[in-house]
Amino acid sequence: MRVGVLVSGRGSNLQALLDAQADGTLGAEVAVVLSDQPGAAALERAEAAGVPAIHVPVASKRARMREDDEQQFVSLLREHRAEWVVLAGFFRIVGTPLLEAYPDRILNIHPSLLPSFPGLHAQRQALEHGVRVTGCTVHLVDSGVDSGAILEQRTVPVGQADTEESLSSRVLAEEHLALPATVRRIAVAGFRREGRRVFWNDEGEERT
Ligand code: GRF
Repeated sequence: MRVGVLVSGRGSNLQALLDAQADGTLGAEVAVVLSDQPGAAALERAEAAGVPAIHVPVASKRARMREDDEQQFVSLLREHRAEWVVLAGFFRIVGTPLLEAYPDRILNIHPSLLPSFPGLHAQRQALEHGVRVTGCTVHLVDSGVDSGAILEQRTVPVGQADTEESLSSRVLAEEHLALPATVRRIAVAGFRREGRRVFWNDEGEERT
C-alpha cells in the first residue's frame, strides 16, 4: 500500500509513520511527502528517511485552495503512485480535486475526540470547555472540516493542572500511536463504510 503524506509544519506524525515503516510495522510505504509550506521541518524529516519530499507552491494563503493549486497535489500523488493519502498536520482544507481522485482514501489526524472540538486549537477548546477526557481521532476526509467518518480514537484524561501545552503533548503521544496503527490496519484488514459508520474487516460484528 503506497501512501502519500500531505504536511505543512513540524511533521511529528509523519515521523511516526516513517519510524513505523523503518521498523517494519507500518504495512505500507510512504511514497511521497508534499508540503504547501517551503520551509516545513516535515520535508527535512522525509528527506532524512530517503522519501521524495516536494514543496508544492500554493498561490493563496486561504485554507481552501484554488482548484488548479489542489490539482498539483493530485498530479504529484499520481506520479508517485500513491493509493492512499494521509493529512498529517496539513493546514489546508481539501476540496473536490483531491476528494474525487481519492474517494474514501484520505485520512486525517485531529487532536480531539471528534465530533467535539473540530478546527483549530482543539486542545485549548477542550480545556476551556472543561471536559475530563479528550484524545485524538483518525478519520476519513470529506468536504467538511474534521467531519468525516471516524476510523480510530484514543483517549487522554484531562488533569486539573493541565495547560494547553501539557495536554497537547500527551494527546500528541497518542496521535503518534493512532496514525501508524490505522494505516497498518487499513493495509492488513481494510474496512467498509456505511454512512458515518466504519466496519473493520478484522472485527466481529456480533451484537450482544
Ligand atoms: C497534530 O496535532 C495533528 O493532530 C494536527 O496538526 C498537528 C500536526 O503536528 N492535525 P505534526 O506536524 O504532525 O507534528
